[in-house]
Amino acid sequence: MSKVLLLNGSPHVQGCTATALNEMIKVFEAEGIETELIQVGMKDIRGCISCRKCADAGKCVFDDLVNEVAPKLEAADGLVIGSPVYYASPNGTILSFMDRLFYSTHFSKHMKVGASVVSCRRGGNTATFDALNKYFTISGMPVASSTYWNQVHGFTAEDAKKDLEGLQTMRNLARNMIFMIRAFADAKEKYGYPQVESGCFTSFPDGK
Ligand SMILES: Cc1cc2nc3c(=O)[nH]c(=O)nc-3n(C[C@H](O)[C@H](O)[C@H](O)COP(=O)(O)O)c2cc1C
Repeated sequence: MSKVLLLNGSPHVQGCTATALNEMIKVFEAEGIETELIQVGMKDIRGCISCRKCADAGKCVFDDLVNEVAPKLEAADGLVIGSPVYYASPNGTILSFMDRLFYSTHFSKHMKVGASVVSCRRGGNTATFDALNKYFTISGMPVASSTYWNQVHGFTAEDAKKDLEGLQTMRNLARNMIFMIRAFADAKEKYGYPQVESGCFTSFPDGK
């Protein structure tokens, strides 16, 4: 069974971001896709200290939710990152979490389908959306899109529930993710995944 992991970067477990993610979960479950929603935003998640211990250990030196979620991400076919907009950026907790999750894990994320979802009262949504999508596009993860940028508006969950276009965008996003997950599984059987080259690391040792 295909599985989608959803991360809520908001400290409000029943807030606007959760409203958007739950709208997607309804579609996933109706289509027989397994889901797990992980509440990140109310946890005490420190930032990456660039100690690089993960290079050998394959996990973060801080043994918290990041290391718990890592095997779940490895097993998942899709990842949704949800965040409220804080000063036109993702919330600090989800950024710390994502930096450490993606930097410390060495399993391939290639062809896992990614999507980000943001909630804001009024502005800063597209900058936040762009920042979150960058975790996918450096990792060989195809990014699912919808019928608008993936956002809901509101200060409370009740506001977000009135954002009918936002919720529609979430349902369409979930449907597109499901299609991509299924299509990639079929294409993997038929063609195999594309080759990934590695080994070049730009360091300009000649100083030019
Ligand atoms: C510290 C902080 C900064 C915020 N900055 C913005 C902002 O730049 N733009 C905006 O529209 N809303 C901003 N908001 C409001 C939240 O993004 C918005 O209410 C969001 O939908 C809350 O989602 P949640 O219920 O999932 O936490 C901010 C809220 C907080 C607490």
